[in-house]
Amino acid sequence: IRAELISFARDPGIGDTPEPGSLEHYGDGLLWLKGQHIHAVGHFNELLPSLPENSDVLDYRDKLIMPGFIDTHVHYVQLDIMASYGRQLLDWLNDYTFPEECRFANHEHAEALSNAFLDEMLRAGTTTSQVFGSSHQGSVDAFFTACQKRRLRMLAGKVLMDRNAPEALMDGTTGIAASERLIEDWHGKQRLGYSVTPRFAPTSTKTQMDAAGALLRNDPSLWLQTHLAENSGELDWVAELFPGSRDYLSVYEEAGLVGSRSTFAHGIHLDNGMRKRLAERGANIAFCPSSNLFLGSGLFDREAANETGMAFTYASDIGAGTDLSGFDTLKSAYQVGQLRGQPLTAWQGFYGLTKGNAKALSLDSHIGQLAPTLEADFVVIDTQATSLLKRRINHCKTLGERLFALMMLADDRAIYETWAGGICQHHRDN
Ligand code: GUN
Ligand code: FE
Repeated sequence: IRAELISFARDPGIGDTPEPGSLEHYGDGLLWLKGQHIHAVGHFNELLPSLPENSDVLDYRDKLIMPGFIDTHVHYVQLDIMASYGRQLLDWLNDYTFPEECRFANHEHAEALSNAFLDEMLRAGTTTSQVFGSSHQGSVDAFFTACQKRRLRMLAGKVLMDRNAPEALMDGTTGIAASERLIEDWHGKQRLGYSVTPRFAPTSTKTQMDAAGALLRNDPSLWLQTHLAENSGELDWVAELFPGSRDYLSVYEEAGLVGSRSTFAHGIHLDNGMRKRLAERGANIAFCPSSNLFLGSGLFDREAANETGMAFTYASDIGAGTDLSGFDTLKSAYQVGQLRGQPLTAWQGFYGLTKGNAKALSLDSHIGQLAPTLEADFVVIDTQATSLLKRRINHCKTLGERLFALMMLADDRAIYETWAGGICQHHRDN
């Protein structure tokens, strides 16, 4: 494919310009695919002589290609309750989320929503997500089946929840066995991986969290996803439920849930001690800015994360998030940053959404960069997609300005195509 190519080899740093060698940019580039992988990346004129005679060359010279976006925390089962009005976390869970998740006992519903979610995800330019199912085992079978058909690289898991939830959603002592069966059937199959998924400390007993920790100890290639320190009501509740634990994070530490493949969504209300403990274990916080604004949860502190060495990733967290679009996530992250006096550069944002997220999920040997041997997962962006975007982009003088304009003004209309596993999986329908 002949196009403008942008990709990050490593963290561009927090300055206004990317650190030398971190950004790879080809104004007239060639992305050479072989089957499901990237074979070569470079300047069109330099690579052209080595292309075999009969190669198909797609001419996308007016388009911009980046690695596919990655979403490190999202609930596919909450697609239909996005934009539910007027609550903060705990009331939102009781009033909207739990009733909705009950519907996933029905397998046809789970299949329909799995496909609807993947359609929307690809439309938004996202090629890999780490996904919560419901507490029903079948919700994850349906989801992985849909992912497998499309050959997507995805992480997912069944919610573990054995207290403080509606009867119909609690899995009691069967939750761990159900997770084991799903791991057996899906983990490492094709491009799929399993994330052990205790919802959060208030809805799991200590017994269930310990058993989840045992799963991780038995197989270090598993991932772990849960929620941490999102909302002040939640913090009070955790303190009440776990009077013997030093703080919220130590509840997870005591169960053996904090490791280099662990993602904790939110992490808004942390102190530097907790941030350093997360950093030492190599765990990451999923920063979910549109969700945090929507539920009024608080403003994530990126500077404190950087100062303590705590890794963080970017995520939509729909149904509480307001859009699946990576552009929207970065726009919200910029706004949260402004309210904290920590504006987000486009370099940081797009690095985070691609290579940064891949690295934090230990998936960077597969995805996150346009580089030889990596999987051919990428997004083709039309920077002229809307009249407003076109006006602004054509007014920009530098690459940094163009990327920032995309981050603030683009939406799924700017996603011309989304490719995963070397296949065009979404083509804009207008
Ligand atoms: N904390 C526990 N469950 C949830 C959830 O479904 N969404 C969000 N945003 N936070 C949670
Ligand atoms: Fe969430």
